[in-house]
Amino acid sequence: MEIIIKENGQVASEAAARIVVRLVKEKPNAVIGLATGSTPLMLYREMIRLHKEEGLDFSQVTTFNLDEYIGLPPEHEQSYRRFMNENLFKHINIKMENTHVPDGMAEDVPASCAAYEQAIIDAGGIDLQVLGIGSDGHVGFNEPTSSFASRTRIKTLTRETVADNARFFDDDESMVPHHCVTMGIGTIMDARMNIMLAFGERKADAIADTVEGPIASIMPASILQYHPAAKLFIDEAAASKLKLASYYRWVYDGKPKWQKDA
Ligand code: F6R
Repeated sequence: MEIIIKENGQVASEAAARIVVRLVKEKPNAVIGLATGSTPLMLYREMIRLHKEEGLDFSQVTTFNLDEYIGLPPEHEQSYRRFMNENLFKHINIKMENTHVPDGMAEDVPASCAAYEQAIIDAGGIDLQVLGIGSDGHVGFNEPTSSFASRTRIKTLTRETVADNARFFDDDESMVPHHCVTMGIGTIMDARMNIMLAFGERKADAIADTVEGPIASIMPASILQYHPAAKLFIDEAAASKLKLASYYRWVYDGKPKWQKDA
């Protein structure tokens, strides 16, 4: 795992965006996995800027989102489909039919999860997966003790995640759905590259455990230690509990530019 510590979330997001740029230029029909929540917003703003100001072309790109709440229709203000449309898709030249978000309203949830997995396979697999991390270490909505072999399926959120996400529902925990559909950890680990973003003190413990703790399902993100191409883009606050922070800075600062953006 490569740890990239930047002075703030904006600079870290710009560094992460350079990975996206490189991929889309090298492979115009790239398949990109996307996350929602507050963390990737700066990355998405930078992708929009790169499209508008530098002509970054998303016309052949396909996307798959990590997760969706069960019971929220796509037009619901807090559905992840709506989030993606508002915060990214409608500002770039991606074809809407090439964007995929799990169906939170499916009548047959297991069948729709299997179809989602198949659609990823049919698209050629995910080249680059963007991840956030929960304060409890979840990736996607794979909460602590999720199987490392899991595929797209229904999950129940922890109370910690429900409380964390209440901020998107007028601070009313009773409005936060308790169930979701999420790509599994096995699905995420199949991505050819994973980039995780984490900002703020609230993520510091989870980041320290993810990077320097044992690989254990109680800290789902720790499985990234086992991924051959995983990069973490974090700010100083999220890095504040890393024991080897100065080593990670030294490694990154010593790399040639072409390797930093690869
Ligand atoms: C959302 C997702 C979640 C979030 C995590 C952090 O698609 O996959 O794992 O990344 O809950 O959320 P924020 O960024 O709001 O702190």
